This record gives sequence, structure tokens and C-alpha cells, in this order.
Amino acid sequence: MNIPLIFFRAVVVLFPLFFIKPALGADSVLEFRASGSLVNKISLAELKDKIKSHEINVFNSIVGKEKKYEAFSIKDILNFVYRSQWTSGKYSDIAFTALDGYAALSQSVKLNEEGGFLAFRDVDVNDGWELVGKKKVDPGPFFLVWTGKFQTTDNAFPWPWQVIQINLLRFEDQYPAVFPTGVKLNSSTYRGFSTFRKRCLHCHSMDRMGGKVGPDLNAPQSIVAYRSKHMIKEIIKHSSKYRYTNMPDHNDLSDSDLDDLYNYFQFQMTRKTKHH
Ligand code: HEC
Repeated sequence: MNIPLIFFRAVVVLFPLFFIKPALGADSVLEFRASGSLVNKISLAELKDKIKSHEINVFNSIVGKEKKYEAFSIKDILNFVYRSQWTSGKYSDIAFTALDGYAALSQSVKLNEEGGFLAFRDVDVNDGWELVGKKKVDPGPFFLVWTGKFQTTDNAFPWPWQVIQINLLRFEDQYPAVFPTGVKLNSSTYRGFSTFRKRCLHCHSMDRMGGKVGPDLNAPQSIVAYRSKHMIKEIIKHSSKYRYTNMPDHNDLSDSDLDDLYNYFQFQMTRKTKHH
């Protein structure tokens, strides 16, 4: 028997529309994970029961106008589900996964700023939501919005819609080439890594993982292989003494902070030679 291919296509496309949507409408469920493992699944009714909701006004640049939503503070939700885990520094990023599987990534520190709200109801519309985006989609069940004037997508604040899952991501999963695997937390190398992560990673990369403003400090050659220890420390501390450059001075770093950074770079170099 020959079943035409088009039949299968129709099933694949229509299934999510007919079966998932109404189920969510009844009582939306938000799934919480950490490093991929399930932590909790909480329905909207339960969230309303446990967490205070607010009616908020936001300028929604995605819709292009002022909107009124019923929402939870995203910090309240993360604190309720993950306690102090999500701000401990162990998790660098948070992924918001949408109905279609699209995951929007955000640095977890961004989520810890005031002004983030997870909207669950569009107050301006009687039933459902005002549609958003180029494809005019329904942004429910959950839409992350920000009340601050500068908390826009241009400033790296995430505005994901159709959110069904929140997942905390560990730094070492996100940036394996930057994380000094196997190093003790109280070692100089680890302290150097911590400084690098906080102060340098947004501009510099390690093995092409990280920022793109400055040069990669481990590939194709480690900085340690072609610059003296003295010069590396000098450039980090006061690069403006040597060049007109976008590299900021780091006058506040002590000599031992600089030694820590150097030890981290050296560790990264030896690890690299082991790998190749
Ligand atoms: C705002 C972006 C920015 C930040 C933050 C930054 N750098 Fe840089 N860095 C640069 C740029 C751009 C260069 C390219 C060379 C230049 O212009 O001097 C550079 C160059 C360097 C060099 C190589 C210099 C050479 O010529 O070999 C080192 C080493 C370095 N940075 C280390 C660091 C460390 C360590 C930190 C954190 C403590 C850091 N940088 C923070 C932008 C940055």
C-alpha cells in the first residue's frame, strides 16, 4: 500500500498545533531544569498560589507600544525554584526554551537585575495575547519582559516569548575551553580564571571561546609562549602606557592578582598541548 508522503507531513505539522496548544491554555506548565536535569514542573495555578503577581506597564519594543501585563517577577520565580543556587556563580547562563524549541540565552547576572517580569496574561486583550514578532505569534504561555527603559534586547536583556522551560547552564558546560578543569578552587590558577571570567572574557577568548574584541589568548599560540611574564603583567595593568588601545587599564589588580592571571594562562597552555 502506498501512503503519500504528504500525509505524514500533515501529521507532523498539525500535531503540535492541535494537541499542545489547548492543553497549555487549560493550565500552563513551566518546566525548570539545571544543567539539563529536571528540577521541577510547576503549573500557572501553583505559581499564582506561591508567588505574588503584579500588574505591570512596559514599553514592549517587540510589539512597538506600551503594554499592560499580569506577571511574576522573574527573580521571585528563580528564587522560589532554585533558592540561592542560581546566583551562586556556578551557573553562568540561563536558557529560556520556547514552544518551538528555540532557546534564548541570557547571562544569569542580567536576570538578577530589578525589572524582569515573566508575563502570563495580556491585560489589554480580553482573551489570549496580542500577537508578536514577524510571524505574528501568540507569545503565551509565558513572555519575559523588562520594565526598565534600557533593558532592551540591544543591551543583552532577553525577551523570549512562548516560554515553556527554564534551564540553568553551568559555566563549564557553556565554556569548556575556558574552565580550568581539575584545578583546586583555592589555587592561584583558579583565582586567575575567576578574574579572567569576570574582567576579560567578554573581550578575549580562549581557544576561540569568548569575546571577540581583543585577541584570543590561547590560540593559535598561548600569550605565554610569545610574551614575557613581565610584559604580560604590564600590558594587563596599564596597557595605555604602551599603546592607544581599546584594552582598558586594570590599575586595581594587585601584583598577586596578575600572577594568578599569568598562572591561569600557563595552565591553559599546558592543557592545550596535552590535548593536541
Ligand atoms: C574592552 C575589551 C577588553 C578587555 C575588558 C580586556 N582586554 Fe585585553 N585587549 C583588548 C584589545 C582590543 C587588545 C588588542 C591589543 C591592543 O589593542 O593593545 C587586547 C590585548 C591584550 C593582551 C595582548 C597584548 C599583546 O599585544 O600581546 C593581553 C595579554 C590582554 N589583552 C589581556 C587582558 C586581560 C588579562 C584582561 C582582563 C583582566 C583584558 N585583557 C581585558 C581588549 C580588552
